Amino acid sequence: MRKVFIAGNWKMHKNRVEAASLAGELISAFSGEKKKIMIAPPFTALATVAEVLKGSKILLGAQNMGPEEKGAHTGEISPQMLTELGVSVVILGHSERRHVYGEGDELINRKVLLALKHNLEIILCVGETLDEREKDIAAQVVENQVVEGLKGVSEKAMKQVTIAYEPVWAIGTGRTATAGDADTIHTLIRGLLIRLYSKKAGEEAVIQYGGSVKPDNTAELMNMENIDGLLVGGASLTADTFIKIVKYE
Ligand code: 13P
Repeated sequence: MRKVFIAGNWKMHKNRVEAASLAGELISAFSGEKKKIMIAPPFTALATVAEVLKGSKILLGAQNMGPEEKGAHTGEISPQMLTELGVSVVILGHSERRHVYGEGDELINRKVLLALKHNLEIILCVGETLDEREKDIAAQVVENQVVEGLKGVSEKAMKQVTIAYEPVWAIGTGRTATAGDADTIHTLIRGLLIRLYSKKAGEEAVIQYGGSVKPDNTAELMNMENIDGLLVGGASLTADTFIKIVKYE
C-alpha cells in the first residue's frame, strides 16, 4: 500500500514570523493525522520552522538545492546545509526552476544523485508546457524528464524518491488537469518506473499531482488509482485551505 503524501510548497512567500505561525497551526491540526505531510518554506525560514516542527511528524522540506557539496558556488545551498537544519526532503526540478531559471535535466540529475547520497528524500517534479500538450507530446516530455532525472538512481534509492507530475499550464493558473488526464500521465509514469526498475519499485512509487490543487478538487484527484499525493502551492499558504486538503474525505 502506498502511503498518501501531501506536500506544501510555499515558494517565495512568508517571513520567519509568518512561517512559524503557519507551521504552528498545522502541527495542532495534524497531530492525529496518518498521512505523510511535508511543508517547504523558503530557505530563510527553514531554521525557524525546524524549531517549530521539532517533535511533530510534519516533515521539513526545501524547495531546491545546489548540485555541489561545497566550494565557490555563490548563492547555492548544499545538501549538508539542509540536513544540518533538519530538512529531510528536497523538491528538485520544479517547473519554475526549469522554465524561469533554465535548469535542464542534466543539472537536475546531478542534484538528484547528490541529494540521495546525503540521505535526503527527493520530490522530482516533471510536467509538460501548454505548447507541448497542444503538440500532443506531453507523454514523451514527461517520460524523458523521468528517465533523465533518475539516471544512475538505484532501485534501492527509489524508496527515497517521490515523483510529482505538475503540468506547467496548471501551476498557479487556476486550471487543474482533469483528474482523468492527470491519472493518464501518472499511469504512464508508473509503467515507466516498472520498466526502468521492477514491478515492485513501480508499484510502490508515490506519484503526486500538482497544479491548482484546492480543497474542492482534492478528493476527485485523490480518488484516482495512480494519484498518491499532492504537491500544493497557493493553497498551502493558509492553514484553512491546506488543512482541508490534507483532511479530504
Ligand atoms: P499551485 O498549487 O499554486 O498551482 O502551485 C503548484 C506548484 O507549483 C507546487 O509545487
